[in-house]
Amino acid sequence: MQIIHTIADMRRWRAENADVAIVPTMGNLHEGHISLARQARRHARRVIVSIFVNPLQFGANEDFSRYPRTLSDDCDRLREVDTDVVFAPAADTLFPHPQSYHVEPPALANELCGAFRPGHFRGVATIVLKFFNITQPCVALFGQKDYQQLAIIRGMVTDLNVPVDIVAGATVRAADGLALSSRNGFLSAPERAEAPRLYQTLNVIRDRLATGQRDFTALELAASATLAVHGWRVDYVAIRRRDLTMPASGDTDFVVLAAAHLGNTRLIDNIEVESTETL
Ligand code: PAF
Repeated sequence: MQIIHTIADMRRWRAENADVAIVPTMGNLHEGHISLARQARRHARRVIVSIFVNPLQFGANEDFSRYPRTLSDDCDRLREVDTDVVFAPAADTLFPHPQSYHVEPPALANELCGAFRPGHFRGVATIVLKFFNITQPCVALFGQKDYQQLAIIRGMVTDLNVPVDIVAGATVRAADGLALSSRNGFLSAPERAEAPRLYQTLNVIRDRLATGQRDFTALELAASATLAVHGWRVDYVAIRRRDLTMPASGDTDFVVLAAAHLGNTRLIDNIEVESTETL
């Protein structure tokens, strides 16, 4: 496995290697990322995992400075799954001067997480396009836990004709249901014990949708209230169509998404509700 830090070296490697998949990450890898790196091998002969904590996607009061940087451990884990290249550029390599051109995503970027993290998806889309331009992959893999991110990246490659196939990897969960996330490491022991309630709450909504309930607002409010009672500060609980547009009572396929804070840690999760599970 090669660890590459410069754009010139990355381009040189890419010129000598065809049929490449990329798994873009911010490092502090957990089993969710590792499973994407494994899956990547099924889609291409060569696998790049990028590791870069992207300042463009963090707001002024967010956790950019405390986001864990664990490059050497990450590389050890990636070696075990036969990754070909870890691309880990320094910030001044990617931003030799302040980034002045950005990808401007559509209105969806201001909803759900975007309503609470202004500019977040603009920062994500911009860095992802930079990584695509540097590494020229055929395929890129993203976790389904970041459902809105996935939708925005899919929209970007379609709208901007970026020749990359986007593949989604299923959310990987701890035994108690908590979606794996680098941010779980910030949770205190009591917070970690409470954290699975987010997934449980989404499942309650799924069960109610399955029995035919269609008062979406009432379901969202009840779920938010349950979380609040248990000490969460809820950003949103939302029932949407799979394409993240607003649902209608005749719909049978949904995604239920939530973002909420436990202490200083913001967690997100989502589940798809299959039409076969509904009426
Ligand atoms: O999902 C993430 O870790 C990040 O948003 C990504 C896609 C690597 C862009 O920085």
